[in-house]
Amino acid sequence: ASYDMGGHDTYMHKEIHEQADAVDRVLRGRIDDRFSTVHLGGLNLDAREARQIRRVKILGCGTSYHAGMIGAQMIEELARIPADAEPASEFRYRNAVVDPDTLYVAVSQSGETYDVLAAVQELKRKGARVFGIVNVVGSAIAREADAGIYVHAGPEVCVVSTKCFTNTTVAFALLALHLGRTRDLSVRDGKRIIEGLRKLPAQITEILDREEEIKKLAEQYAGARSMLFIGRVRGYPVAREASLKLKEVSYIHAEAYPASELKHGPLALIEPALPTVAIVPDDDLLEKNRAAMEEIKARSGRILAVAHQNQEKADQTIVIPKNEDELDPILMGIPLQLLAYHTALTLGRDIDKPRNLAKSVTVE
Ligand code: AGP
Repeated sequence: ASYDMGGHDTYMHKEIHEQADAVDRVLRGRIDDRFSTVHLGGLNLDAREARQIRRVKILGCGTSYHAGMIGAQMIEELARIPADAEPASEFRYRNAVVDPDTLYVAVSQSGETYDVLAAVQELKRKGARVFGIVNVVGSAIAREADAGIYVHAGPEVCVVSTKCFTNTTVAFALLALHLGRTRDLSVRDGKRIIEGLRKLPAQITEILDREEEIKKLAEQYAGARSMLFIGRVRGYPVAREASLKLKEVSYIHAEAYPASELKHGPLALIEPALPTVAIVPDDDLLEKNRAAMEEIKARSGRILAVAHQNQEKADQTIVIPKNEDELDPILMGIPLQLLAYHTALTLGRDIDKPRNLAKSVTVE
């Protein structure tokens, strides 16, 4: 497919900059202010059925799996249903126990990823209820799923996923809010989340307006041979996704680790030549994250923080706007998409078509 680049040099750059509009689309027509919930017409799930869900299991690959990790946390936080995400490619090979009281959620931008499709087919063979969170309308996974949510990000051409990731995390916030409001999430908390969702497009624009600053940082870090990404709880999937983005598009080796696990091994790697990107949301774990940065500084590591306020322990901070704690992960990866993009540009990489990768992996 070839779509107009709209004045951008690459689709990746175009798609990063489309995110405020894309998020606007995933929200459009779905918010129900009267009852502080959302309408998800494609779900066919009444409140009684929603209350019978005992667990949520999310399956996807690559970036979609990372969006699922964020989704699982949102569902646990807002709906208090145990939830976790697993790579679909692993799930389908381990003869997993399929439970009729679990809601399975298959996540895929293209809707054609074979590992995800095969997992969905196996689940359906065993009588499970499967929802899809998909971008491409009418794709194989969308057709195979019992019901679902379209993420309405618009066509994504760059092999490296950006706007679909963001929209998928927003779709998960909608699902979590919907499930939460059939359970114990109060009207007040429903309202609070809705207000947070409404702020997202303007906050995304605010982040993207910092591009020049992020470009300069990318030029500084482009010489690194390897980078470490750390985050804790809400920040960890963000670190995972940011590290995948950097790897895919710049070919710089990157590893993501929970900040809490540093002392159990990776601290041994810290030296000036291994920069760390730290995801530091202004939530109840802020002090813990500061302590992790201190550990890194004490071993002369360099730190770039993504945070809601300037971090003294870090060498540099990309300050981004604060949303509700539960929704922060939607925004925290966006500056790091730009960091990956500008790093790749500095290194002269083939940004829209990284070596060895395909947009959708329709084979085993
Ligand atoms: C994203 O940047 C990657 N190229 C890749 O991990 C991708 O997310 C994965 O292959 C899954 O694709 P899907 O969302 O179309 O199923």
